[in-house]
Amino acid sequence: MLNVALFGPPGAGKGTQSEFLTKKYNLFYISTGDLLRKEMAGKTKLGLEAQSIIASGGLVPDEIIVQIIEKTITDNPGSNGFLFDGFPRTYIQAYILEGLMIKLHTSLNCLISLSVPEEESVKRLLNRGLTSGRSDDNEAVIRNRLREYNDKTLPVLQFYKDKGIYIEVDGTKSIENVHDQITQIISHELSKSLFNIVLFGYPGSGRGSQGKALARHFGLEYVATGPMLDQEIKDDTETGRKINELYENGQLVPDEIVVQLIEKKLADSKDIKGFIFKGFPRTLVQSYILDGLLRKHGSSISQIIEIDVPTLELINRLDERSKTDRCMPYDNSTSKIVKRLQEHETKTVPVIDKYKQLHGVTKVDGLGSFDEVFQRIAEEIENGIKSLR
Ligand code: AP5
Ligand code: MG
Repeated sequence: MLNVALFGPPGAGKGTQSEFLTKKYNLFYISTGDLLRKEMAGKTKLGLEAQSIIASGGLVPDEIIVQIIEKTITDNPGSNGFLFDGFPRTYIQAYILEGLMIKLHTSLNCLISLSVPEEESVKRLLNRGLTSGRSDDNEAVIRNRLREYNDKTLPVLQFYKDKGIYIEVDGTKSIENVHDQITQIISHELSKSLFNIVLFGYPGSGRGSQGKALARHFGLEYVATGPMLDQEIKDDTETGRKINELYENGQLVPDEIVVQLIEKKLADSKDIKGFIFKGFPRTLVQSYILDGLLRKHGSSISQIIEIDVPTLELINRLDERSKTDRCMPYDNSTSKIVKRLQEHETKTVPVIDKYKQLHGVTKVDGLGSFDEVFQRIAEEIENGIKSLR
């Protein structure tokens, strides 16, 4: 997840830069100014309370700000993170933001401050006032907004300097130049955050071998729940013995066990660039579990890839493999193979459909040699990394 706050005096260009940032990085935009103007336009109770304060250029009370932010943020955004414009604006609001981030199991990556001298602010806002229709874009109110900024908002910077996440940008440069300065900062932030891939495909599509090779190639941690369960059995751990018993009775391994193993894997993985998940999530329930697990680590899914192979080819491949020493116990009869394909169809395809709607799924042609398919997927991952950074 990427959470950024844009800071700066009135007219610094926060709104202007926000427009491209939200699109480029798929961020959920929270501008307290815009939210307040919406409340005023709707003549709501909060809007009416805020109206005269905004018209005079003062700051709206923190209580009102908390209410409008809570209302917005609890709507699940399905984005890569949040972009805050014009919030936090008081020392108290800095603490409020900390609380919100904790509630969402995440944290603010950085506060980017656009520095612009007062006279430039005034000049820009008077110019904007010619067309904006904003009641506060006139000189007397602008001067008051700047006074409020100096008195109450500037001290907030110390909070973020102390936290070590304050970054200053020269806001007097052209819109494009400021844009470039911010992009550089965010690229750097993103290179520190995890890149997480979910790899889908029917049994026999090559997702296991491709997943392992891709993880090596991109320096990611490979997380495959099947082999993780097998390892527990091999190591004869308490969990392993439980799993074995379930297998012998032909029962499914409950989510609780799978979750514990993944949690341990995530916690043990230090200094890594991200994960490739294979064979998980397999059900809709597990898709929610994965979101929760990643959130807990302040992260989220970055890319979803589906390896596409026609059914007849899948059966052919699994049947061929069953005749070799690479035969898996679950592939040693046609009925077992068909059952696994059906399982994928009924339980996992709905998960892929959900992701298609939420994040978009990249479909990759799984026909051809191992290397050909690998190249195709690797190219998609490179594009994915580029588009995010
Ligand atoms: P809000 O809407 O946040 O206003 P603001 O902080 O005064 O900032 P502006 O929107 O005026 O400026 P901006 O930095 O977005 O600049 P823009 O990109 O438009 O808040 C309004 C009021 O709501 C506050 O006064 C307060 O009462 C209340 N409020 C809001 N949040 C609150 C909170 N958290 N707590 C309490 N009260 C709160 O650019 C300005 C102009 O400059 C544009 O015309 C643009 O085209 C131009 N421009 C932009 N960049 C450049 C550039 N690089 N070079 C040349 N021109 C540029
Ligand atoms: Mg603005």
